[in-house]
Amino acid sequence: MAANTSVSQISPVMPTYGRFPITLVKGKGSYVWDNQEEKYLDFTSGIATCNLGHVPDVVKEKLEEQLQNLWHCSNLYNIPNQEQLAALLTVNSCGDQVFFCNSGAEANEAAIKLARRYANKVKGSGSSEVVTFEQSFHGRTLATLTATGQEKIQQGFSPLMPGFSYLPFNDSEALEKLQAIKPAAVLLELVQGEGGVIPANPDWVKKLAQICKDNGILLMVDEIQTGIGRTGTLFAYEQYGIEPDVISIAKGLGSGFPIGAIIAKEEVAKGFEPGSHGSTFGGNPLATAAGLATVTHILESNLLKHVTEITAYFDQQLQDLKEKYLFIKEIRGIGLLKGLVIETNALEIVQKAITNKLLILTAGTNVIRILPPLTVTKEEINEFANKLESAFQSIEKGA
Ligand SMILES: Cc1ncc(COP(=O)(O)O)c(C=O)c1O
Repeated sequence: MAANTSVSQISPVMPTYGRFPITLVKGKGSYVWDNQEEKYLDFTSGIATCNLGHVPDVVKEKLEEQLQNLWHCSNLYNIPNQEQLAALLTVNSCGDQVFFCNSGAEANEAAIKLARRYANKVKGSGSSEVVTFEQSFHGRTLATLTATGQEKIQQGFSPLMPGFSYLPFNDSEALEKLQAIKPAAVLLELVQGEGGVIPANPDWVKKLAQICKDNGILLMVDEIQTGIGRTGTLFAYEQYGIEPDVISIAKGLGSGFPIGAIIAKEEVAKGFEPGSHGSTFGGNPLATAAGLATVTHILESNLLKHVTEITAYFDQQLQDLKEKYLFIKEIRGIGLLKGLVIETNALEIVQKAITNKLLILTAGTNVIRILPPLTVTKEEINEFANKLESAFQSIEKGA
């Protein structure tokens, strides 16, 4: 029987996204093309995912090679790409062992499970509480949306998971409550991305790390948006002078190929043993080929130095725009994770930018979030500034 290809009245895809009315079919470097062959400057990087730009040759070649050999095998067997990628991640972080999964939410889910199991089985403390922060974003599974400190993400999904509590972000006094809560772990974004591009205050983070250390609380950082070079170091925690017990990563790790991971210190990783956690696809040969090529390239090229240098130029361009357009109230963020706090509606500007062939994002109602690829050039930043300025001007004119 022939396949039924008739078009239904309703969209066959569930409406979980408010989509912009363009259809992207091709990408290279900092650019994407739609199905009308229109070219757009992409300063979203698939939301901090295509950190090496679209379809980077180094990753494409490694994936093509792996495609010829083996796409998938179970984690019941050794996977060389997985072992090499884990080695690279541990040598270049403060962690010792890696668990692979397929997304950011799954990485945080694994971190939460590890914290609970470590507390129950290794420490025998019985405390399974995880403390997170207001405005945070940690994912969409039931545990990670409960961990997320935003009611709008949790609405309609009750009963939420037990075992989570929330503290205000960047609030030093509130940290005193940790001694009373005595949680198994704290889960923290060093720059709250979805919550409005809000960097954690360095002194506050140091105080938090000290309280965690003094009280046997695991410090887990969610580097899903900030990791893999986005802020100018492989991980953002390096710039805060702390050593987390668990780091969760995803997004940029596979340059667009789905992969997530947690990196944990050896002692904490003892919380997992054969059978305590798993994933069919997690760390499969294709996903870890993408991860291995991505991380190898970042470490072996001058890319992190480039991010630091180009950030200075990018910041200057943003500063110039702020001086010219008074509705820009603040520029926030670290490295190439930037937010413009504005007095007007951010979505309206994002929509105008699309008509100028520029892709940018919002983070809440009044923040424009800008995430160029780490490979971005000065010329592309100039093009971005011109296109964004045109969007500002058409808003000012009420066009
Ligand atoms: C900080 C942070 N954590 C977790 C997630 C969830 O990642 P995923 O969408 O891959 O599940 C995101 C996604 O935006 C994120 O920014």
